Amino acid sequence: MNLTDRIVVITGAAGGIGAALARRFTAEGAAAVVLADVDSEAVRAVADCVGPIAHPVAVDVTDEEQVRALVADTERRYGRIDLFCANAGITTGGGVEVDDAGWDRAWRVNVLAHVYSARAVLPGMLAQGGGHLLHTCSAAGVLTAVGDAPYTATKHAALGFAEWLSVTYRDRGIRVSALCPQGVDTPMLADGLAAGHLGARVVAASGAVLTPDQVADAAVAGLAEERFLILPHPEVAAYARRRAEDPDGWQAGLRKLVRRLTT
Ligand SMILES: NC(=O)c1ccc[n+]([C@@H]2O[C@H](COP(=O)([O-])OP(=O)(O)OC[C@H]3O[C@@H](n4cnc5c(N)ncnc54)[C@H](O)[C@@H]3O)[C@@H](O)[C@H]2O)c1
Repeated sequence: MNLTDRIVVITGAAGGIGAALARRFTAEGAAAVVLADVDSEAVRAVADCVGPIAHPVAVDVTDEEQVRALVADTERRYGRIDLFCANAGITTGGGVEVDDAGWDRAWRVNVLAHVYSARAVLPGMLAQGGGHLLHTCSAAGVLTAVGDAPYTATKHAALGFAEWLSVTYRDRGIRVSALCPQGVDTPMLADGLAAGHLGARVVAASGAVLTPDQVADAAVAGLAEERFLILPHPEVAAYARRRAEDPDGWQAGLRKLVRRLTT
């Protein structure tokens, strides 16, 4: 997909990777970028910086009615949606002790919101003969996120859902891409590093921490090639290969890294 004259929606656009996608798509010549986030003040500030083609909307992606309204209002205002980026995501941290409310929150933001947006946007895209879904998953969906069981499980589910969409709809003109970065310098990782969380330290020790703009560059390159799996960190492909070929060896290596960081 070439971004020129495209109508794009981005969730989780109030900062980090979502705001970087908005800036980069604008530079690529998008006709409109609709920026959705639960943080209405911050997303308005991002829209002001992006410029006149940006339209901020307060949306909680875990509320299907709000997602449906986001899609319907965008289609009414601009006539179509060419690219929908389901990018909002959260971490909870923790393991089996995380209570059901925590698991539910992670499931609703990281997975169910992707189902809601696909459900809302696919009829219009199929009717217009095509469209592209970009789902921000994570390297945690390809590998594992040390210190965060809900994030690991829900990002694996998000990647599985994106793959299912791609297999099911590709021959009907719908392209699907899964953006799977490892460490990115946004509040999500920076706050964890500042607090000394093990998971954040493992991420930082496993490869480069990219800027959100570098991730947006990788996303634009992946969209241009209509690639399913977009890995801004090339080392993640090597880790994934190792994990597939020798799961026990790969896990042993990860445990060794964790021991090195904790002793
Ligand atoms: N930062 C990293 O290291 C990293 C690595 C891999 C993947 N990711 C993924 O990238 C995506 C963007 O994260 P980021 O790093 O830019 O973090 P971020 O915290 O800066 O951005 C996440 C955005 O999602 C919004 N959001 C959260 N819950 C929402 C909801 N219910 N409705 C609408 N918006 C909501 C937040 O307000 C925030 O603006 C996430 O899906 C995250 O899991 C991040």
